[in-house]
Amino acid sequence: MNGGTRALPRLGKIGYGGDYTPEQWPEAVWHEDVRLMREAGVNQVSVGIFAWALLEPAPGDYDFGWLDRVIAMLHDAGIAVNLATPTAAPPAWFFQRHPQARQVTREGHVLGGGARHAFCPSSPAYRKAAAGITAQLARRYGDHPALALWHAHNEYGWANSACYCEASASAFREWLRLRYGTLDELNAAWGTSFWGQRYGDWTEIDPPRLAPPGVNPTQQLDFLRFSSDEYLACFRDERDVLHRLAPGVPVTTNFMAPNCKWMDYWRWAAEVDVISNDHYLQAERTDNHIELAMAADLTRSLAGGRPWLLMEHSTGAVNWQPRNIAKAPGEMRRNSFAHIARGADSALFFQWRASRFGAEKFHSAMLPHAGTSSRMWRDVARLGADLSNMDELVGTRVVPDLAVVWDWEAWWALELEWRPSVDLGYLDRLSAYYDRAWRAHRTVDFVHPEGDLSRYPMVLVPSLYLMSSAAAANLAAYVRDGGTLVVSYFSGIVDETDTVHPGGYPGALRDLLGLSVEEFLPLRAGSRVRLDGDLTADVWTERLVLAGAESVRRYLDGPAAGEPAITRHRCGEGTAWYVSTRLNGRDLDAVLTEAGLVPHAGLPDGLELVRRVGDSASYLIAINHSDRDAELAASGKELITGAPCHGTLPVPAGDVRVLRTTS
Ligand code: GLA
Repeated sequence: MNGGTRALPRLGKIGYGGDYTPEQWPEAVWHEDVRLMREAGVNQVSVGIFAWALLEPAPGDYDFGWLDRVIAMLHDAGIAVNLATPTAAPPAWFFQRHPQARQVTREGHVLGGGARHAFCPSSPAYRKAAAGITAQLARRYGDHPALALWHAHNEYGWANSACYCEASASAFREWLRLRYGTLDELNAAWGTSFWGQRYGDWTEIDPPRLAPPGVNPTQQLDFLRFSSDEYLACFRDERDVLHRLAPGVPVTTNFMAPNCKWMDYWRWAAEVDVISNDHYLQAERTDNHIELAMAADLTRSLAGGRPWLLMEHSTGAVNWQPRNIAKAPGEMRRNSFAHIARGADSALFFQWRASRFGAEKFHSAMLPHAGTSSRMWRDVARLGADLSNMDELVGTRVVPDLAVVWDWEAWWALELEWRPSVDLGYLDRLSAYYDRAWRAHRTVDFVHPEGDLSRYPMVLVPSLYLMSSAAAANLAAYVRDGGTLVVSYFSGIVDETDTVHPGGYPGALRDLLGLSVEEFLPLRAGSRVRLDGDLTADVWTERLVLAGAESVRRYLDGPAAGEPAITRHRCGEGTAWYVSTRLNGRDLDAVLTEAGLVPHAGLPDGLELVRRVGDSASYLIAINHSDRDAELAASGKELITGAPCHGTLPVPAGDVRVLRTTS
């Protein structure tokens, strides 16, 4: 089943609501919940996410009565249900019966109970029990008219990305056997002639447990691949049960893109019916709305450009950051609309009602502890009213301007230990390049390195350290056919097995870039280098040897003083740029603008502008993150105020406008 073959739940509305936990409240409160949900315009809630122990209080002893009543109440109120499989929180009795299903850390510690997510994804007992409770739910509720969507599990890999127990070790060996076929192949791929690590029998291979420094990087990389696949296998088990017993109801699981490093969501995206994502602001960052936009663009890209669901975000502060900064007035609204602008067909929250007890009692909610006399509640109700005017956006598609290459495997590989500098960071470069596109008011699609690039005039490749030959060929074909490619340093260095491409760095890209990198020249902490054109850079420099490329900027000082720093190589119909040092902000702008990332003319700083297009209309979503009123040259009908707009659309400071355009 592919992400694209099933439709979004057919609500025909922008989904509005959140995680609903009636099991934490007496039944009398449920009536108030439903009344207030209607008042706030809630039309969709996620139910039962951590309720396994309440649905199956003892092995094989089920209590669905309360859930029957909850779902019936919601249905009577016209509120659709995303019904969760509760498998992210197995009951205490499960771990007592199956102690070997507890997760084991890299250090060999067995995780205890009292939290959630403590299970081993390779445990046969866990897999059987998870499929069992899933089947019970599917049989009972699969044809319930309130059911819009299955919400499988919750944030696979959230707490612990991998388990190192014996069951995981044998599943890892089986995974390796399927990947490599023979031990000779594995020994070659892992380079086990290094440090005499050769394996003569599959049973000799272990997960990369705590060991002396310098654990085989390919072993580590394969274990990361395996661990992502193992959680994906857990999802597939549940999905297949749901498809079999409740055909026609789409299945999602909530991703954490890009904040979960450990799940290769390109692989996951191919398996879920509907892409959904959870996003929380990095609240202390003053530019956190740009990180939000990146997450939303990445999620849409995982959905192949199709609409997706924002499964969770927050009305205000979370409870798990070092300092849980509250959202400023208007910020929740801007956040919700920014996700919608970038392709979400819902704005759902964690959570409907704040818990009085437990680990998350200080987390914000649609209905906070302060109740309905609070600003938060008024904002929630206002957002619900505004979103009820947005139904015509459902199913429309975002129009991108350029692409950025994104790859989880390259991220993992780049950040293993013993790289040439501890200052190399994957998200550092991704965010730096994305930031520039956002500030230029350009909309980014993310693509897999081997994905189709042909529709984009420009493609950025930030630090793609691991690059398959197929990816390199893909980038080369893109440039030959007329594309503009900008590659940043430490890209195209190794293949999928973390083996250096032969013939000198960057082996996968030398011909395309028209140069080679003779030596990496990382900088001391805090030191900077100057480039001509009045640019400064830090962290990383290289000694380049040109072989067809022309130098666009040179290093003025530092270890590569006088040598090329930024180059351009015309290749076929297109151009491949290379940036061999770490530029940020305006310094990076200068280069990207010269390469063709031209800012959208006439738009003020801080105005986020995205277009969604449908069969019969086009929509401009404008979000003003600044404290100055802004104006856009556009005509159409504004959907929040309902006002016609002739030539000029005012977007007040801190506010949002959605224009159905006529031009
Ligand atoms: C995650 C989980 C939720 C909740 C929130 C809190 O997204 O899915 O259950 O813990 O975080 O921010």
